[in-house]
This record gives sequence, C-alpha cells and structure tokens, in this order.
Amino acid sequence: MSTSLKEKPIGVFDSGIGGLTVVKHLSTVLTNEHIVYFGDTARVPYGSKSNSTVIEYSIQDTNFLLHKNVKIVVVACNTVSSIALEELRKKFEVPVIGVISPGAAMAVNKTKNGKIGIIGTRATINNQAYSKAIKAINKNIGVFEKACPLFVPLAEEGWTHHRATYEIAEEYLKELREKEIDTLVLGCTHYPILADVIQEVIGSNVSLIDSGVAAAEVVKNEIHKLQLETNHKDHPNLDLFVSDIPTKFQEVAELFLGKKVNKVMKVDPEELVHS
Ligand code: DGL
Repeated sequence: MSTSLKEKPIGVFDSGIGGLTVVKHLSTVLTNEHIVYFGDTARVPYGSKSNSTVIEYSIQDTNFLLHKNVKIVVVACNTVSSIALEELRKKFEVPVIGVISPGAAMAVNKTKNGKIGIIGTRATINNQAYSKAIKAINKNIGVFEKACPLFVPLAEEGWTHHRATYEIAEEYLKELREKEIDTLVLGCTHYPILADVIQEVIGSNVSLIDSGVAAAEVVKNEIHKLQLETNHKDHPNLDLFVSDIPTKFQEVAELFLGKKVNKVMKVDPEELVHS
C-alpha cells in the first residue's frame, strides 16, 4: 500500500453539524488519523426532504470530500445512510461507510428479548432502513420505529435536560415503552446529545445504541482491513468545512464534538453544485 494513500484523511459528511457526534467517536478509536468534515449547514435538515433531493445533495457532499483527497468516506448522517448509501457506493470508487448497518448489528448483539426500538428523522423511519438491516441479520427480531423530528432542534438548542425535552420525549417514546423493547437505537446524529433524557424516559432497563459508536468501530476495522492506517504520529488535524456558519455555530459544534472548535471554513454552496 502506497504511503501517500495511507496519509490521506478520512472524510466525514453530514447534513449539518450533528455528525460531529460521529467524529468524536472516530477520533477516539482512530487517534492518529486526520479527518476532513463537511457539514451541509446551509441545506440542513435532510430528514424532511425527498429521497431524490437527499441523493442529489449527498453526491455533492461526497464529491466535495473527494476533492479534499480523502481515502474513505464516512456518511455520519442517518438520513443519507438510509436513503443514498447504495447510490454512493455505485457512483464512487472510494469505500463508503454508513451508520445504519453498524447500528443495526450492535442492536442485534445487545437485545436479549428480541424487541428493538428505532428512533430517527421522518426520512430514516419512512425508509425503514434500520428495520431492513436488523431483519436481514435476524428476521425473528421485532422492530418498532418512531420518528422523533423535534429532537433535532431541541439538541441544537442545547436543551439537553430541559423540561420541554422530557415532555416531548414522553410523548414520542410512550409507544415504544408499551412494546417492551429492551434496546433502543439512537438513529440520528443529534440524539446522543439527548441520551440522558431519552434513557430516563424509556427506562433504565433499555440499552441505548449510539450508531456513531458502532460506525466508528466499523471504520476502524475497514481501514485496518484495507491497510490504510496512517503512519502519522503527530497530533491529527480536524478540518471542519460547512456550507453556512449559522448563529450559535461554535456553541452547538462544541456541544456535539465534545471539545473546542478552533477553526471552521465556509464552503460556497455553488462550489458544491458545480464540483
Ligand atoms: N443528520 C440527520 C440524521 O442523522 C439529522 C438532521 C437532518 O434532518 O438533517 O438523520
């Protein structure tokens, strides 16, 4: 394997800054790898858009990362992973890893009573991607899905323990509680931010699965399998690109990443469309 390929960064993209929750786990398991992140903050949310728009945007996002010379693409966004992954794999030669199969596999390993709940954006839930991935591993597992669209703005507002978040979680999760699930997949980049509230409302007997944690392990194994591990030993870079820098960007990005964000670069959305 040529050294130059190994030294290329890992590319990660998301519809916005939520995917920084996945970057956090990637940097924990792949401590020496450079990461280039693109968050499409000008066009977020993807979770309420049509499949064709999500596919179109995700092709542009992947092209952007390829222009940054990445060796592998990680689709941190659950919505894109559930709609566009096959399309991206067909279109691009670079390995493309999504978050759905890793999260599904981790949930199947975890459940004892064979009842798994999935929460995500409307698009992720409508496409039943988690359900299909779980049934492909074990068709006898019961899968119960619920779209929780209001969790995204609550997480971005930083309302991690707010009374309103508890009330909304009560409303969303009551159906899943009635199904007596023992495992719940947080099928959206933003939901790990609300994990304390979700855990309290769904009950301490239910295991929460963070698909970002599961995906980071899969990326690590894939990089190892393809012999793409960097030889780099210095402190790795995180190059952060976004298509818009919204108000409160710094605060929200740091909440999601779990550490200080020093520099962010803005990409002209025109550049995405014509790349
Ligand atoms: N990143 C999206 C996901 O994980 C959530 C935000 C959006 O709707 O774009 O599904």
